Amino acid sequence: NKSIYILAIESSCDDTSAAVLCNKKVLSNVTATQKIHEEYGGVVPELASRAHQQNIVPVVHQALNKANIDKKLISAIAFTRGPGLMGSLLVGTSFAKSLALGLDIPLIEVNHMQAHILAHFIEGQNDEMPEFPFLAMTISGGHTQVVLVKDFFDMEILGETLDDAVGEAFDKSAKILGLPYPGGPLVDKYAREGNPKAFTFPKPKVVGLNFSFSGLKTSILYFIQKETAKNPNFIKENIADICASIQFTIINILMDKLKKAVKETGIKQIAIGGGVSANSGIREALKMAEKNKGWKTFIPKFEYCTDNAAMIGIVGQLKYEKGNFTNSSVSAKARYTI
Ligand code: KG4
Ligand code: ZN
Repeated sequence: NKSIYILAIESSCDDTSAAVLCNKKVLSNVTATQKIHEEYGGVVPELASRAHQQNIVPVVHQALNKANIDKKLISAIAFTRGPGLMGSLLVGTSFAKSLALGLDIPLIEVNHMQAHILAHFIEGQNDEMPEFPFLAMTISGGHTQVVLVKDFFDMEILGETLDDAVGEAFDKSAKILGLPYPGGPLVDKYAREGNPKAFTFPKPKVVGLNFSFSGLKTSILYFIQKETAKNPNFIKENIADICASIQFTIINILMDKLKKAVKETGIKQIAIGGGVSANSGIREALKMAEKNKGWKTFIPKFEYCTDNAAMIGIVGQLKYEKGNFTNSSVSAKARYTI
């Protein structure tokens, strides 16, 4: 029973990350978060790929140093092939291919959205892991998906966003309120002190299990414009109530679709992932559903929720076991479904 060491690389958006896993346990998980995008209020693709280019070698070095293993022990290189920003993906993909060639070890391509879900199977987190089949909801600044997970590599998208991701809905709302980017955590912070029923925003009418958040953003913008015309201090005087009401609306949209998915599939195990999993509103709503509806919910450690290479590494380990390797002529794929 030989130990399998995987070096994993993630570069799909604005985080450059490298991790070393050994037999499904994380030895190191190093992420360089790009600060450059803050002043632009969103990720600038061209700047993201340049920053990956600068960060990738130091980040991989740090991951190897922290894991405290010799490069020669590495069994395979896993990397994010897609989906994501093409310029960003190209940096990680090219680097992974070259390193695998240099070390003469196999290469393993990973789908980023599968990785968000399979992050639940990284060992040493919670006492329990979800059992197949389960429902996964991936919520972040880049994604909003509800997925039926039948097996490790047998997944079906039940619903996804038709426009903005849920994290974007938080961030764009925050921007309207004059909060710095990314504003999601700040909306959450203010929401804790506010009344969620102070203001009402319309929920979008989207059929099936798909989502839409762009209408909500527009209605928040009009509401704020109207109120500040009457009272220039409206935002300042009501920030907690405004944030609580926005968060309440967004969480309701998510929970409505989850309830619908549970009803349609009969599955009550729900696994959450992505940066928005940190939100106190969604955590509270899931806890309530455990109590009132008999759901069983799972949230990975926060460092495995946001974009990270450890989740790429766990997929690498699972594929290694199956001997599922990737030809070295592989290319990055910006649009890449589960
Ligand atoms: O997974 P992530 O780090 O990066 C990707 O987008 O892939 O997610 C970041 C997103 C941002 O939109 C951020 O505002 C949101 O997650 N976020 C939150 C909270 N923490 C992070 N949104 C609401 N409440 C939070 N506590
Ligand atoms: Zn992601």
